[in-house]
Amino acid sequence: MTITDNISAVADAALDRSVVLGYTKLGSGLRRLWWPADPAPGSMAGRRVVVTGATAGIGEAMAGSFARLGATVHLLGRNAEKVSHSAGVIRASVPGSSGGTVIEEVCDVSDLDAVRTWTDDLAGRVDGLHGLVHNAGVMPKQRGETPQGHETQLACHVLGPHLMTERLLGLLRNPDESAVVFMSSGGMYTAPLKRWTEDELESRDGPYNGVRVYARTKRMQVVLADAWARRLARTGVHVYSAHPGWVETPGVADALPTFRSVTRPLLRDTTDGADTAVWLVATRPDSTPGHFWHDRAQRPTTFGWQRRQDPHAVAAFLDEVSAMTGTARSWVAI
Ligand SMILES: NC(=O)c1ccc[n+]([C@@H]2O[C@H](COP(=O)([O-])OP(=O)(O)OC[C@H]3O[C@@H](n4cnc5c(N)ncnc54)[C@H](OP(=O)(O)O)[C@@H]3O)[C@@H](O)[C@H]2O)c1
Repeated sequence: MTITDNISAVADAALDRSVVLGYTKLGSGLRRLWWPADPAPGSMAGRRVVVTGATAGIGEAMAGSFARLGATVHLLGRNAEKVSHSAGVIRASVPGSSGGTVIEEVCDVSDLDAVRTWTDDLAGRVDGLHGLVHNAGVMPKQRGETPQGHETQLACHVLGPHLMTERLLGLLRNPDESAVVFMSSGGMYTAPLKRWTEDELESRDGPYNGVRVYARTKRMQVVLADAWARRLARTGVHVYSAHPGWVETPGVADALPTFRSVTRPLLRDTTDGADTAVWLVATRPDSTPGHFWHDRAQRPTTFGWQRRQDPHAVAAFLDEVSAMTGTARSWVAI
């Protein structure tokens, strides 16, 4: 490591711990000076990626970035009209000669039956998959339930993505390797892992607080991604979680209007917010346990004042996710 590398590492960590500097566009603006190289133009040509929640915000920008790198992008949303609109936006903005293809996909990722139907359908249409980004996210003010009776955020952030990952494994395990990214949030730091009861998982443990449930389910995504990374080690399927920083999106405007009005001049644009997920899928960097990334570098999953992951709490959580989704309990112990 050179002196310059050391200075960059210290500055990078200081930005991360300061939160406000690191998560805003100031953070990515500075880190761009030293972060790893961009994926080469055309480097995703011949590769196929699914982006969920791609009809707005970070997901739409991400689908555009993949298409600009030459990928075939399956742009997935729950509303057919929005899917069609976003696909049109990307097709119009990506030059035909260098850009990839955009394929429209409709599926509500929080509806486990819809996920089963859609994954079966996709498996009948394509031979392999090189990227899967679980980007769809919500932060409702009231508790809602999916057709299977699960709380909406648990289903959208955790159960649907888990089921989708498991059912697409046959496509993801291919000789060209692949990457799965769970789009979490820095908000997960406020919700340490614990041995959640079923009532806590389903948010029946008191008055509903959408922000608290969001943080909790975003923590679950980090734990789940880490477990998938362990389970799929040396299979050629790389699994990561990531957070995009603070990004100006319709979701933030709707769910956090006060936060947005205070931070607006410093919020990242959506392409900036999508950057690390795109880079992870395009370059598949080596990753160590935790597997949580931001601004093209791995970040801690807990800070000093929090306890490290309790293996019993992790195992109990993974067993619950398997039971709720009717999937195999093939987890590898920490
Ligand atoms: N923006 C930030 O500052 C920030 C910070 C940290 C983490 N994140 C994470 O980044 C991701 C994207 O956030 P964003 O701010 O871009 O959100 P957004 O503007 O609200 O967009 C969310 C997207 O997800 C879709 N979606 C929601 N529920 C879905 C479901 N059940 N099935 C399929 N699609 C669904 C939405 O479709 P509809 O239009 O149909 O609702 C929309 O396309 C989320 O996971 C979020 O938690 C964002």
